[in-house]
Amino acid sequence: MVGSLASNIILALVVVLMTLLRQNKLFQEWFLSHLEKLFSKKSKLTQKVNVLSPSLKLVGYKTSVTAHQSNLCKINHGIPTLPDLTQNLIRLHEYRARGEGYNSLLFRRARQLDGTAGDQLQELGYFTKLMKNNESIRENAGVIDKIIEFTLMKLMHSNEHNKEIMEEIEKICAEHGYKIEDGHLTQLNSDSVFPIVLSRGSQNAVHEALAHLCRDFSSYYSKERDPLQKFIINRIRHHVVRPGAMKEKILIVTPGAGVGGLPHALASTFPNIQVDSVELSALMYVCNLFALEYKHDVKIRPFVQQYSGQTVLNNQLRSLWADLSKFNSCDNLDPLWGDFTRYSPDAKDYDKIIICSAYFIDTAENVFEYLASIEALKEYCKELHWINVGPLKYGTKPLVQFTGDELGRLRKIRGWKDLVETYEVDSSKGLNGYLTDYESMYQGYYGLLKFHSVFERSN
Ligand SMILES: C[S@@+](CC[C@H](N)C(=O)[O-])C[C@H]1O[C@@H](n2cnc3c(N)ncnc32)[C@H](O)[C@@H]1O
Ligand SMILES: *[C@@H]1O[C@H](CO)[C@@H](O)[C@H](O)[C@H]1NC(C)=O
Repeated sequence: MVGSLASNIILALVVVLMTLLRQNKLFQEWFLSHLEKLFSKKSKLTQKVNVLSPSLKLVGYKTSVTAHQSNLCKINHGIPTLPDLTQNLIRLHEYRARGEGYNSLLFRRARQLDGTAGDQLQELGYFTKLMKNNESIRENAGVIDKIIEFTLMKLMHSNEHNKEIMEEIEKICAEHGYKIEDGHLTQLNSDSVFPIVLSRGSQNAVHEALAHLCRDFSSYYSKERDPLQKFIINRIRHHVVRPGAMKEKILIVTPGAGVGGLPHALASTFPNIQVDSVELSALMYVCNLFALEYKHDVKIRPFVQQYSGQTVLNNQLRSLWADLSKFNSCDNLDPLWGDFTRYSPDAKDYDKIIICSAYFIDTAENVFEYLASIEALKEYCKELHWINVGPLKYGTKPLVQFTGDELGRLRKIRGWKDLVETYEVDSSKGLNGYLTDYESMYQGYYGLLKFHSVFERSN
């Protein structure tokens, strides 16, 4: 009680300070980093707790992770920690406040116009539009609440036999306004929901994760998914799996799985093949688990915060259904949370391992690391395949930015043999969108580099 009072006072001070010092960016950064240290001292113990996936089982509280446990996880070293999860749950939690906050900024900006302009804004219903936008944000936030609740529930169920950890989980639940009672999660009255606004990560990532649920599970976006899935499935069916060879032991690995639509499609198309998906972002990963296990459709408004390029308000506010009821979790699918470069399979006796990457290569800071991690899988199988489809739109501070041709020659140098390599850059034959709003005036499309390559270097 005293503890929570003290932290409330600290919080109040923080809010006041931050308001006063909003102008001074440098000070803000300094202050936040000290604040983080202060909070992190308190949670030193939980910092060492690792989150195993797909179970969300917590291990290593006051002990180190055993080899057996880390085997279960298939992610070595660098297993995500409990703070990695809880900080991102807080980020999710902030979606509503931050979205509405941005809207009220727009509101204030428009209010600066007075006189005739102000009257005309009223006549146009511009302020009504901002209010409607608030409503839509609240509806999205409702979906996010379900995602948070689902994650807390899963945490609770996977750890209910560990008393000490359960105390930590109860604290986490309380932060989000939930209480654990007789093994059930109950929501406290919604006024007591904790309104902390402190996380530093951008809210964009939260919105992106939500939008990806549409990209992967809404019929609207089948035109983005189908070309990718068709290429990969066709290559596997006709050029990897030997007809009639039912006894082959095959593993498919999808790095950078996003919210998991592709690995799910592969696992349901090839029920006899084990599929491991690996995703680094906690936000994406939590949405991935939600998508596979929630079993109810959810309504998402993915364009609500996109004010540019809209023809009419109804398009901006329109909702898409993520048809989650159609997607069941498959026994042969293991969605994993972690860094793909730390992944290793559960067995060394695979006949074939197939890496399936979509919109992934260009996320590498060091693409040589990706190549080495993929090639290292050769130790676990007789035949290593790599099927890729995606653009080369480099992000995160890449050390090198290869052309498709350079990347192809690099594969050759390293001992890969291409079975196919094609580019799709002809707009008249259709390019590939990525979370594109096909009703808006700005529609981005990508050309694709597709290849299927086999690793031939002998160890
Ligand atoms: C551009 S998105 C593509 C997502 C999905 N494949 C799709 O097509 O919708 C790239 C994804 O790779 C993930 N990622 C980046 N680096 C990664 C790594 N080292 N290990 C696993 N995932 C990673 C990012 O978090 C992001 O979700
Ligand atoms: C949106 O909601 C926030 C928080 O309730 C409020 O401050 C803001 O004024 C609202 N904006 C509009 C345009 O109604």
